[in-house]
Amino acid sequence: MISTRLLNSVSTLAVVCTQWGDTGKGKFIDFFAEWADIIARGTGGANAGHTIKLGSKTYVFHLVPSGILRDGDGKVNVIGNGVAFDPGIFCEELAVLEREGVSFEHLKIAQNARLVLPQHILLDRLRESSADGRIGTTGRGIGPTYVDHYARVGLTVNDLLNIDSFVQKLRRNLAEKRRILKDVDPEMIRRIMHHEHLEFGAFWSAFEFLDADAIVDRYRQFGSFLHPFIWNTDQYLWDAIGKKRVLLEGAQGNLLSVDHGTYPYVTSSDCSVQGLARGVGIRDRDVDLALGIVKAFYMTRVGEGPFPTELGGETSARWCNNAEVNEAVEIERLPYVSVNDIIPFRQGVAIRRAGNEYGATTKRPRRVGWLDLPLLRYSKRHTGGDIILTKLDVLDQCDQIKICTAYRYDGLPYAIGERVFTNGDMLDTAVPNYEVLQHCTPQYETFSGWKESTTGAKSYSKLPANLRFLVRYVACAAGLNVVLLSVGPDRDQTIPV
Ligand code: IMP
Ligand code: MG
Repeated sequence: MISTRLLNSVSTLAVVCTQWGDTGKGKFIDFFAEWADIIARGTGGANAGHTIKLGSKTYVFHLVPSGILRDGDGKVNVIGNGVAFDPGIFCEELAVLEREGVSFEHLKIAQNARLVLPQHILLDRLRESSADGRIGTTGRGIGPTYVDHYARVGLTVNDLLNIDSFVQKLRRNLAEKRRILKDVDPEMIRRIMHHEHLEFGAFWSAFEFLDADAIVDRYRQFGSFLHPFIWNTDQYLWDAIGKKRVLLEGAQGNLLSVDHGTYPYVTSSDCSVQGLARGVGIRDRDVDLALGIVKAFYMTRVGEGPFPTELGGETSARWCNNAEVNEAVEIERLPYVSVNDIIPFRQGVAIRRAGNEYGATTKRPRRVGWLDLPLLRYSKRHTGGDIILTKLDVLDQCDQIKICTAYRYDGLPYAIGERVFTNGDMLDTAVPNYEVLQHCTPQYETFSGWKESTTGAKSYSKLPANLRFLVRYVACAAGLNVVLLSVGPDRDQTIPV
């Protein structure tokens, strides 16, 4: 099934998303896992949601690498040092795998992965509950875990193996957090500490907010259970590079990267190829081929932040971020909305339904818009020019497809480095700064749809001519090399170009 030409002389392959995540990485990691010996994750944590469909079963993983379904074939899955590792969620995922009869014998966790603790989830949720500065995070404690890492007060997975040093580091960390919590409404803290992700109050203390003894008890249990999985995975990968087939699994997407994305509306790790390599302890030059995933010919985003081509604009953004929007409630209640509706918000609702665009982690409706070439041209710098187009079948019934080919800047003068953006400027490549992006008006080209089902297509030449035209158009207009297409969630709904 996998073209040998594509992976000829490739020993280390990276698969990353060029957009805001949820482009179908899970399917392709599982797909390339057939080729790989080792599948390794290096960024993000339980904020990710990777959906894999196998036969009649659908699996959603947050922490466990998406190559786990091939464990039975002897493939090694690695959670690398760059991951924010939540042992509670990890144990829950293992329980699901066990129930489903999926083995995890060869799974390894980096001893130096960053450890998520209850205080991180509390701080994440506290910041999100203030209207000011909301990012729309997944509430999994990701940001505060990385903050502690860079502030040099974080704990690592290895601390689970040495309980005395765990206790010492935990106490120091908690002392600092309690100072921050001193000025916060205790009722708000109590409420958050009773969230299901904080075991319904198991770590809550009325006087100290966070019960150190309860945390030690639970994490001691995690330590003894997880001991056999904890490895020096950096060393393991160094030894494997160039000798074994290594598949690096990206998480989130380049536009959510803390270093390259639409800051501050990003996650707290670097989702580019470089960040991914670093997160498993290798150099990015060790990656022989990077494949960027692009959802086509629409895009999605979860959480706050600019999204120039969003269908329904502000209304959609507010509605998808849990605000009460009356007109939206009515439309969402309709049993049928057409993907050809002339009202953009309604068309967005229809595409969301057609693509089942609801968060795998938070169940939030994903914001939907047209494919944005200025953003894709920007992302290409960090993810490379070789891409996979996914979810093509979702737009099978569309009469017309719009593609954003450029922006017009419609804002007040705004300086970014040596360039000042002024009203009326045309941009063919996006800048990630939200101050500019939020005032960019997309310029569209409209194309005829293909109006036939593609889910059963077996070869590129059998795809409708209008669809093939659009694939070539995107490749040409953004300088990309399209290597694979996806027309459905199953492994065999994959077409080489
Ligand atoms: P955090 O990663 O939970 O801190 O969330 C920061 C931003 O990244 C929010 O807008 C989230 O919705 C978004 N985000 C985090 N993980 C994912 C993902 O796996 N898919 C899509 N968006 C994500
Ligand atoms: Mg996802």
